[in-house]
Amino acid sequence: MTNETLYLQQIMESHKRPASVLAITSGKGGVGKTNITANLGICLAASGKKVLLVDADFSLGNLDIVMNVNNRYNVSHMIYDGKSVEEIIHSGPEGIEMICGASGLEELADLNEFQRRRLLKELSKLQNDNDVILIDTAAGISKSVVGFCLSANNVLVVTTPEATAMTDAYAMIKVLVGNRFTGHISLIVNMAHSIPEGKKTYQKIANVAGRFLNTHVYNAGILLKDERLSCSVRLRKPVVLAHPKSQITSSLAALAAKLSNSESSGSDDEGFFKKVVNWFF
Ligand SMILES: Nc1ncnc2c1ncn2[C@@H]1O[C@H](COP(=O)(O)OP(=O)(O)OP(=O)(O)O)[C@@H](O)[C@H]1O
Ligand SMILES: [Mg+2]
Repeated sequence: MTNETLYLQQIMESHKRPASVLAITSGKGGVGKTNITANLGICLAASGKKVLLVDADFSLGNLDIVMNVNNRYNVSHMIYDGKSVEEIIHSGPEGIEMICGASGLEELADLNEFQRRRLLKELSKLQNDNDVILIDTAAGISKSVVGFCLSANNVLVVTTPEATAMTDAYAMIKVLVGNRFTGHISLIVNMAHSIPEGKKTYQKIANVAGRFLNTHVYNAGILLKDERLSCSVRLRKPVVLAHPKSQITSSLAALAAKLSNSESSGSDDEGFFKKVVNWFF
């Protein structure tokens, strides 16, 4: 490579937008966050984007299992064994890169200040090397989950039509609005038995958020309950790869396209992980 090319590359690098960060969260557990993160990531990567998945569940992370990715190193190796972020990145299908969550690591809020700073400093190196970062959060509205969501450019809240999941999704939206989240909040209804049931679920939450929180909740779409998805988890092959011609793959691809098109509301100057740091200090 000539000096001129190298110099041009450096100039182009300095103009590159940092990755747009989407946090995928829910309120209630077991509603499909991890599977949605994995399959969305694969669809976005298939469309040519450089995608990083971060499993931000530091106690029961299992994105590696759904993605069938080697989990030799995870965030705990960065915190306790001094590994750099580059050393704990794993490669997944379609050129995706992934950071595995720890199993049994105390929640981010419980780490000491030094450990938190180091973790977030290492993670902040990654925003310039990717187009999209998808954060799979843990369930609930703990300080660490909310911190990750508030620091993202946009948040995708996952619910099912069950009343408990809807109540918890609304609670998450309320916390985001209460903390003056400025990005888009979108809702995806997963495991619906029919499209009308999914639409009704979205409408109910969007109406209440509009009325009581004065907030627009974007409609990210509906995913039907589909045996193929649960089977693909058992096979450890994300459903969009195991069943590329199925209805659920079309819905996931449509969701990825929708998110991809609204990415312009993405990155700002401050950067994702820096905002996480601010939330904790
Ligand atoms: N659309 C779907 N159709 C059928 N089963 C589904 C669907 N989505 C999710 N599931 C089932 O729900 C299980 C839980 O999904 P997943 O692990 O993605 O949820 P989660 O929200 O990440 O859970 P946690 O809160 O524990 O992190 C999956 O293993 C799968 O069996
Ligand atoms: Mg999960």
